[in-house]
Amino acid sequence: MATAAEAAAMRQAITLAARALGATSPNPVVGCVILDTAGTVVGEGYHQRAGGPHAEVHALRAAAGRARGGTAVVTLEPCNHTGRTGPCVEALFDAGIARVVYAVSDPTPTATGGADTLRALGVDVEQGLLEDEARAGNIAWLSAAKSGRPYVTWKYAATLDGRIAAADRSSRWITSPESRADVHRLRAESDAVVVGSGTQRADDPHLAVRGIEGAVQPLRVVVDTEAGSVTPGARVLDGAAETLVVVAEDLDVDLLVETGAGEHWMLPRAKGGRGIDIPSLLAALHARGVRSVLLEGGPTLAGAFTAAGAVDRVVGYLAPVLLGAGPAALGEAGIGTIADALRLDITETVRIGPDLRITAVPAVPAVPAVPAVPSVPAVPSSPKER
Ligand SMILES: NC(=O)c1ccc[n+]([C@@H]2O[C@H](COP(=O)([O-])OP(=O)(O)OC[C@H]3O[C@@H](n4cnc5c(N)ncnc54)[C@H](OP(=O)(O)O)[C@@H]3O)[C@@H](O)[C@H]2O)c1
Repeated sequence: MATAAEAAAMRQAITLAARALGATSPNPVVGCVILDTAGTVVGEGYHQRAGGPHAEVHALRAAAGRARGGTAVVTLEPCNHTGRTGPCVEALFDAGIARVVYAVSDPTPTATGGADTLRALGVDVEQGLLEDEARAGNIAWLSAAKSGRPYVTWKYAATLDGRIAAADRSSRWITSPESRADVHRLRAESDAVVVGSGTQRADDPHLAVRGIEGAVQPLRVVVDTEAGSVTPGARVLDGAAETLVVVAEDLDVDLLVETGAGEHWMLPRAKGGRGIDIPSLLAALHARGVRSVLLEGGPTLAGAFTAAGAVDRVVGYLAPVLLGAGPAALGEAGIGTIADALRLDITETVRIGPDLRITAVPAVPAVPAVPAVPSVPAVPSSPKER
């Protein structure tokens, strides 16, 4: 049975883990707090970057010897394997930790088993403290580990009558500066930001994070089936972040080299529909290490993601504005009758300046098919590790 000090430590560990959202992929976010034998906090840490020390190692270093006989409180089951760093179970044991309290079991075949190893070493282990809260903080990584594709958040900004642009397609700005600043936080927490060629043409978006110090920039992705929407001088081509343009695999390669637009991937077209095949796009992004996607595209691409069962969370910014005409937030999504409506559960409503931010998740979570990871012919360079 966890103590009150352990519960407080777990809350702190969850907060610490959240600091690195968007910065650790393909790894999870993890926080750790070390308590000494009296239950006093003697060390804190979180996993900051893939390839860097794990949360437990940071916290043990901070504890500087005061961990002996104490308790490690961790948001995720300590890892059992040697990846780019050594196994955390070993580090905890070597530091003399007598008890480990963790929230969520590690579902990955390579890293799981840490709890059993610790028990075998004589360490007292407890699982499940504040599990729901810790799971929510790591939802993108946990979801991606299960589904084999990134966790997708579809974000849109709309008027109270549900329009995302005016009749003339202008959409700047529907929502307030406060809401737009909040979107930069969402970008900073994401590994990739995705738009379609329609948004690229209409808005020439920048898609990088601004105004958040130390943010790891997301990969900017434009889904541009026929190539040509990302023209020289486009704002996504500046040096603020990496940019990937996704085109159909049957396009003329010479045409792409001529545009000179960032890194290109050539992927299959959607079967029987328009554009790029969404499961293939998501599988290729996952193979590149992307675990969370912020879909900022217009209604057409959002409709395609929805139809593919690839929207895990919806974040709508609703402004107290009426337009009366113009495109609706979501385009054709393969839903023809009310019985097939995609029902959502609202998980949060927050007032942001004059606007309302509503977060919702599918009432029945999408269980996506995991296609074979396509080889990603890249022109002119191969996909890079982040
Ligand atoms: N208020 C907001 O939150 C918000 C956000 C974004 C955009 N907008 C507004 O939305 C409007 C643009 O809307 P949009 O719907 O044209 O933009 P979009 O959804 O970003 O882009 C649509 C295009 O993406 C391409 N695409 C690639 N793969 C696809 C697939 N599997 N399924 C469907 N399309 C695919 C298609 O063109 P190709 O196949 O030819 O490449 C398609 O026409 C603009 O007025 C913009 O200002 C508003």
